[in-house]
Amino acid sequence: MATLRATRHADAFTGRHVLSMGDYHPRDLDLLFRTADETRSDLASGRDHRPLAGRLLMSAFFDKSTRTRLAHETAMIRLGGTVAGFADATVTRAGGTTQESDDDIARMVSLYGDVVVVRHPETGWPAHAASLSEAAMVINGGDGVGEHPTQTMVDLYTMHRRFGGLDGLRILILNDLRMRCVRSLLLGLRHFDCTVYGLSASGKDAAALPEGVPPIHTGRDLDSLLSEVDIVYSSPTVAAERPEDSLDRVTLNRDLLRRHSGHDITVMHPLPRKGEVDTDLDDTRFAGYWEQADNGVPVRMALLRLMFGC
Ligand code: CP
Repeated sequence: MATLRATRHADAFTGRHVLSMGDYHPRDLDLLFRTADETRSDLASGRDHRPLAGRLLMSAFFDKSTRTRLAHETAMIRLGGTVAGFADATVTRAGGTTQESDDDIARMVSLYGDVVVVRHPETGWPAHAASLSEAAMVINGGDGVGEHPTQTMVDLYTMHRRFGGLDGLRILILNDLRMRCVRSLLLGLRHFDCTVYGLSASGKDAAALPEGVPPIHTGRDLDSLLSEVDIVYSSPTVAAERPEDSLDRVTLNRDLLRRHSGHDITVMHPLPRKGEVDTDLDDTRFAGYWEQADNGVPVRMALLRLMFGC
């Protein structure tokens, strides 16, 4: 990764890998959000803006995905770039009798692409892939129970748009607090003046959290929390690495929200959902998760533009 390590830029994005939310500060997020706003305007106006023509994004998904892969690929194509890669490593030489190593595949995709988005079941693997890359930038598309930084960029942008900023928000994180999206979210919130509450099924409390993240206040019941928070962020309850571990969850539904909220609450969820958010919330004012999913493309477009410095 000699080329990238030797590169120093004034911002946190240009020419850099995207591995952890711990690498970003409010000024970086502000730049990302402003770029995403511009990108949304471009998309809405139909302006044909193709700054990444000639650039190639490789998708290397060693684990399943709907949104993360498709949003990165859509973003690259909308910016005029092209995409290649795999959504299932068993169709590469990793499958079958060859059993090519993930390391060799990581080297290959970094030789072919200008930027590689990687999802892998092993925590920390995208950083390892970045260390193997000569010149391609690596984006962590979710690693085991590690992090999911671009999901958090989308989450924070959605909160920022809905509430006009992040300071002062009261956020309840529900269900499985061990998930990578929660870990990245807490890292993303660490520079903002937010109050974070947590409510999880037994045994699903956040594991050792990184230093400096906001404390998660626990011990309150759902009813009292719903009467005062701005955002309920439900994590998914089914992790690929723990498929058996999925039944204990709080389900948010229309009755519950209407009964307990004297004020507006935004329900967020990175998706896929598996019973944490009832479909009867989908068309209500509470639902923030479709907006969150919709922001997945302009935020990845903004991120790619900044990574390529254009
Ligand atoms: N939010 C998210 O990471 O979804 P996918 O697993 O479908 O990529």
